[in-house]
Amino acid sequence: MRILFVCLGNICRSPTAEGVLRQKMREAGLAERVEVASAGTGGWHKGEAPDVRSQQAAKRRGYDLSAQRAQQVSTADFNRYDLILAMDKSNLRDLKALQPAGAKAELDLFLRRYESVKDECPDPYYEGEAGFEEVLNLVERACDLLIIEVKGRL
Ligand code: 4NP
Repeated sequence: MRILFVCLGNICRSPTAEGVLRQKMREAGLAERVEVASAGTGGWHKGEAPDVRSQQAAKRRGYDLSAQRAQQVSTADFNRYDLILAMDKSNLRDLKALQPAGAKAELDLFLRRYESVKDECPDPYYEGEAGFEEVLNLVERACDLLIIEVKGRL
């Protein structure tokens, strides 16, 4: 099974979700069976490591994002991945506009799918440290529920 997280820049929210889910998949013994990746709808940060603030906040909770590099979502991704999860509603709108007819990937809003307290993951880019902590709080909880879904699907 292949899962892709998508945000705007691929340097804050979706790399955090990728790092958290990959670590949790490893802990659940599912790392070999599930591929996890992330991308941005925009390409401004292509090739860059995640925002230092995201890396530091993640590291404090035991997630290493340092090897990740930003990439832009492509039309091929809609047939490569089984599940594409948008971090906010504008990401989901942009993905729907890009989605080729008949593509296999299921598209959804990440936090809504996993019944979070918020439907959207707020962009922390212009926020302080608390914004990055909130992203982690939302992402960690939703990933726990995503893992339960994945276990049922495998
Ligand atoms: P992300 O945050 O979508 O969570 O990676 C952003 C990072 C950079 C920009 C926007 C959002 N930017 O405009 O450069």
